[in-house]
Amino acid sequence: MMDTDMPGDLLARLRSGVLSDGVEQTEMLGEALAAFLPEEAILCLGGELGSGKTAFVRGLGRGLGVTGLVTSPTFNLLQIHRGTRVLLHLDAYRLEDAGALDDLGLEAWMRPPYCLAVEWPERVAVALPDTAWWLRFEAPEEATRRIQLMDTNS
Ligand SMILES: Nc1ncnc2c1ncn2[C@@H]1O[C@H](COP(=O)(O)OP(=O)(O)OP(=O)(O)O)[C@@H](O)[C@H]1O
Ligand SMILES: [Mg+2]
Repeated sequence: MMDTDMPGDLLARLRSGVLSDGVEQTEMLGEALAAFLPEEAILCLGGELGSGKTAFVRGLGRGLGVTGLVTSPTFNLLQIHRGTRVLLHLDAYRLEDAGALDDLGLEAWMRPPYCLAVEWPERVAVALPDTAWWLRFEAPEEATRRIQLMDTNS
């Protein structure tokens, strides 16, 4: 069972890397992080296909009071979810480069009350501030995910 009794340790645990045994645990981690995410923080979620990035954002949305479903969009680059804050879920997988972001006017959305969460952030890294938080997702086993909060985006 994942240790959810000590939320104050969450950031420290994420910095050293947390293992999740199932999609619900990954969602719970995202939900828990919502309480610790500074208002101005931008969240970058890097990692291979199926490593749990969308599941984590779904939980984050829950933590931000979002009622609409956070999904993995086939055609939508950007999904907007209103909760206690406005969650902007950007999936940059299909973007060739950051230039394709210009039309979105993303910069205006990189501040409160918006909370920007980006999947495949390396695709658009130059458009993201270097203050962004980078989470790395790995899938060491079929039902296990490792999630780590990185010091830098390298
Ligand atoms: N511990 C786990 N945490 C999260 N997802 C898990 C876990 N174990 C298995 N899974 C499965 O892995 C998949 C994760 O899907 P998800 O859409 O969250 O990945 P993703 O990183 O967003 O992928 P993509 O790059 O395609 O957007 C789901 O099918 C989920 O059921
Ligand atoms: Mg996804």
